[in-house]
Amino acid sequence: MTIDKKFVDQFAIVTSKAALASSYLVGKKDKNAADKAAVDSMRSNLNNLDIQGQIVIGEGELDEAPMLYIGEKLGTNKGPEFDIAVDPLEGTNFAANNLPGALSVIAIAEKNNLFKAPETYMEKISTKVNEKNVVDLDYTIKKNISNLSDYLNKQPENLTACILDRPRHKEIIEELKKLKVNLKLITDGDISGALLVTEDKYNVDIFLGIGGGPEGVLAATALDTFNCNFQGRFLFETEKDKFRASKMGIEDLTKKYDLNEIVSGDSIFCATGITSGDLISGIEIEDNKFSSETLVTHKSSGLKKIIKSKQNI
Ligand code: FBP
Repeated sequence: MTIDKKFVDQFAIVTSKAALASSYLVGKKDKNAADKAAVDSMRSNLNNLDIQGQIVIGEGELDEAPMLYIGEKLGTNKGPEFDIAVDPLEGTNFAANNLPGALSVIAIAEKNNLFKAPETYMEKISTKVNEKNVVDLDYTIKKNISNLSDYLNKQPENLTACILDRPRHKEIIEELKKLKVNLKLITDGDISGALLVTEDKYNVDIFLGIGGGPEGVLAATALDTFNCNFQGRFLFETEKDKFRASKMGIEDLTKKYDLNEIVSGDSIFCATGITSGDLISGIEIEDNKFSSETLVTHKSSGLKKIIKSKQNI
């Protein structure tokens, strides 16, 4: 089974409209309002599509999110059955503070093919090298860098690692510095961070560190079409996290997941820029039209490109 290519355009319109809605709140120093605008828009536009969709990754569980909650059914209930993961506003700080890199993101897979990720942190690693035993979440930083350096035939001082700039990453950052690896420290937005390994033009060889679990699943969907490597391990710290995980059917709380255990079968990924960033440009409004850029991937057709569009507001 594959997902009809017509859905690529339909989901790209959904993320572009959510991005537009959020763009009106850029620089207003109100993360919640910018998020709510994207959520409202995304939900109403998903509900117009001829799909039987169900949210597997969203704004949280029913008790904490009135909309796009995990389990929520979306669409006209007429078309194919899809698992849907959404991050209507990825980079709430970016939008609130008018900084580069805010995105509106969605990932779709056929029913039961997308990991139902709890809202916890995830240890992640991604590279363009999709070969076993080169880079692995279980290896030390030193071993990963040495293997990557050998594989790519590049000295460590010519490699670049992208990582969220967080105190929890102090040791990893120190180790990378010791190994003379160049750093690309990002303040937020690790979906983009993980996707910087997809093309040489971004000049990032490895992405690693701890970020949101849902963001990991979303990034993995696009990385699958780019034929890149991704591994993730959820970090369940509190009893509440552990309880939720077991409710979602996760038995081994320390398991390392390979990309195809996170997403399998056909998939679509769409990320529209709200503010311009490394990956894509943001929304521009002129008279009653808006221009947007959306990075789209579609696994079965191998489609992976940036769609530029101009639509009526
Ligand atoms: P929000 O859009 O929800 O603010 O998330 C931004 C983000 O930077 C994610 O990209 C990343 O996965 C996560 O926050 C990291 O979490 P923390 O800020 O707690 O380190």
